Amino acid sequence: MIYSRILTILVLIIVLHQANAQCGQNASKVGATCYCISGFYGPNDSNCQQCSNNTFSLQGVSNTGPSVTQFSACSYCQAGYYVTTPGTTTALPGCLQCPSGATTPNPLSQPGSISSCVCFDSNGAALSSLSQSCQCNIGFYGSPQTTQSDPNRCLPCPANYTSPIGTTNSTGCKKQLDSSILTAFLQLIITSILF
Ligand SMILES: *[C@@H]1O[C@H](CO)[C@@H](O)[C@H](O)[C@H]1NC(C)=O
Ligand SMILES: *[C@@H]1O[C@H](CO)[C@@H](O)[C@H](O)[C@H]1NC(C)=O
Ligand SMILES: *[C@@H]1O[C@H](CO)[C@@H](O)[C@H](O)[C@H]1NC(C)=O
Ligand SMILES: *[C@@H]1O[C@H](CO)[C@@H](O)[C@H](O)[C@H]1NC(C)=O
Ligand SMILES: *[C@@H]1O[C@H](CO)[C@@H](O)[C@H](O)[C@H]1NC(C)=O
Repeated sequence: MIYSRILTILVLIIVLHQANAQCGQNASKVGATCYCISGFYGPNDSNCQQCSNNTFSLQGVSNTGPSVTQFSACSYCQAGYYVTTPGTTTALPGCLQCPSGATTPNPLSQPGSISSCVCFDSNGAALSSLSQSCQCNIGFYGSPQTTQSDPNRCLPCPANYTSPIGTTNSTGCKKQLDSSILTAFLQLIITSILF
């Protein structure tokens, strides 16, 4: 019983391996056709070179074919990089690395800014030109996770406590103003001014 399963798996591995073995190095099959793998480009699947300068290509007719050039194919930046200048027919796009603890969820080709990068920690604040490193968001404290596989390290403040962006420990969580008291106080002021 178990041997027949192992045999089936082995046969599957061999079949899958042979399916891709018909493609060149740095290439794999999509349907019945061999294309350079993503991040590579070439005139055919037996001549696939890696995109340089942190650029990236998408597997298919756009990265494999006689009229494909490194500029036409490698028009994206690798995941973890954002685009400063777009690629042209004679130049690669400019790619800048996201700050540590952040990545771009997909390869990008449109020029953008550091705000294209997203912190791994889902309780981290958005990145911007004014906030260029990952920090815990409002209402959270800690040090943001540094790798995708880590758990969140920005923890929520206790109920009815809040904190500014970038709070690193729980002593930074302060009791929230009770909005009902605040409203009553404002009404008192307004009433005393009007009457
Ligand atoms: C692949 O492209 C190279 C370079 O253009 C060429 O020399 C070679 O003959 C091509 N190989 C196949 C199998 O088409
Ligand atoms: C596969 O990619 C590597 C890395 O870019 C390159 O050195 C090598 O020549 C490629 N192989 C072929 C057959 O193009
Ligand atoms: C890659 O970057 C280097 C260093 O900035 C530069 O000299 C080179 O021209 C770039 N290559 C391409 C194909 O743009
Ligand atoms: C938080 O504040 C609300 C409204 O003032 C109150 O009803 C609730 O009991 C408070 N929760 C805690 C855990 O203090
Ligand atoms: C907690 O954070 C505050 C600033 O928010 C800092 O002054 C203090 O040194 C920190 N305490 C510890 C134990 O890290």
